[in-house]
Amino acid sequence: MRTVYFDYNATTPLDTQVRDAMLPFLDGIYGNPSSVHHIGRRARSILDDARDRAAKLLGAKPSEMIFTSGGTESNNLAIFGVARHLRSKGRHIITSVVEHHAVLHCVDYLEKKEGFEITRLPVNREGFVSVDDLAKAIRPDTILVTIMAANNEIGTIQPIAELGAVCRKRGVLFHTDAVQWFGKEPFANIHQFNANLVSICAHKFHGPKGAGALFIKSPLLPDPILFGGGHENERRAGTENLAAIIGLVEALERFVPNPVFSRDKLLPLVNRLISLVERMPGTHFVGPRELRLPNTVSFLIEGSDSIALLAGLDLEGICASSGSACSAGSIEPSHVIVGLGVDPKLANSLVRFSLGRESTMEEIEYAEQVVPQVIKRAQGFQ
Ligand SMILES: Cc1ncc(COP(=O)(O)O)c(C=O)c1O
Repeated sequence: MRTVYFDYNATTPLDTQVRDAMLPFLDGIYGNPSSVHHIGRRARSILDDARDRAAKLLGAKPSEMIFTSGGTESNNLAIFGVARHLRSKGRHIITSVVEHHAVLHCVDYLEKKEGFEITRLPVNREGFVSVDDLAKAIRPDTILVTIMAANNEIGTIQPIAELGAVCRKRGVLFHTDAVQWFGKEPFANIHQFNANLVSICAHKFHGPKGAGALFIKSPLLPDPILFGGGHENERRAGTENLAAIIGLVEALERFVPNPVFSRDKLLPLVNRLISLVERMPGTHFVGPRELRLPNTVSFLIEGSDSIALLAGLDLEGICASSGSACSAGSIEPSHVIVGLGVDPKLANSLVRFSLGRESTMEEIEYAEQVVPQVIKRAQGFQ
């Protein structure tokens, strides 16, 4: 059976050159950067160099880069770290209803267990947060706003610079989960988000899993969430995973300034998929027509559910997703789709195709042949 991988928003294959750059750190270069002897000092100088490289690429200071285990940890550090650091100033946090669970579950916890008040901004039918809604929601006790740069399920690209400018004007810290954004959109400089904190995750752009970073604009120093040694500027205890850090930095350098998800290559493929979806009865494209990730096509299918659809696609060799990878295997309705305000009966029927570097027109032609049959079969199961 052939394999067609349309799940690049879940993860991407490790690039071979990134892997080659990592290999010495799984083998000969094994020192602990905190050790005082020459083996340790060698690891330390490579770590310092990696931080300088990452900072240079992003236009940040080396001290503003915290290496983490990925998007989830970066979001947790940003949200818990700022909330606990500033709790004496205020206990109000603003987010949106379409964030990843790595954001939503943090604010849920702060609300239930630590006495914070959370405002979850609505979105319109295309998944956009309104800049006016944000301005109206900011209160004197608001300490943090966290809004994602690009949505993993439907690809909406938020007006992040504008949202960030509102926060800056009102003196409120702004965090953006840019995990799905890097490697897909043109990047000039970390300051283009107007954010105090930015989450990055390597495996979404051909880097290794378990590697990420949080940019924290100085002089902010959020509370740590991991305690132990004084690593990462005392913000993240734990012996550094040098192989993962090198993988992240290599992938950043190779795939972010010139986005590895090429809009010119992907748009013709994605547009064919959109017109396929639109030709089929009972199938609805979701997400914006413009200001969207170039690789993501999501749709809802009347009279079916995601599990039947994903299983049917898998039988034909097509790897797709029902939105966030963590909810695959359960038929919980997508909170993103519910947030768009579509008929709740349809929220269980999301299918997301997310394309990438290795996707081809030939794969799209194959999808054009098999997807309509899979959908018909899945609708028959209802
Ligand atoms: C928008 C967004 N944020 C955060 C994450 C979490 O990343 P990780 O699971 O690699 O920690 C993901 C992963 O799907 C994501 O899409």
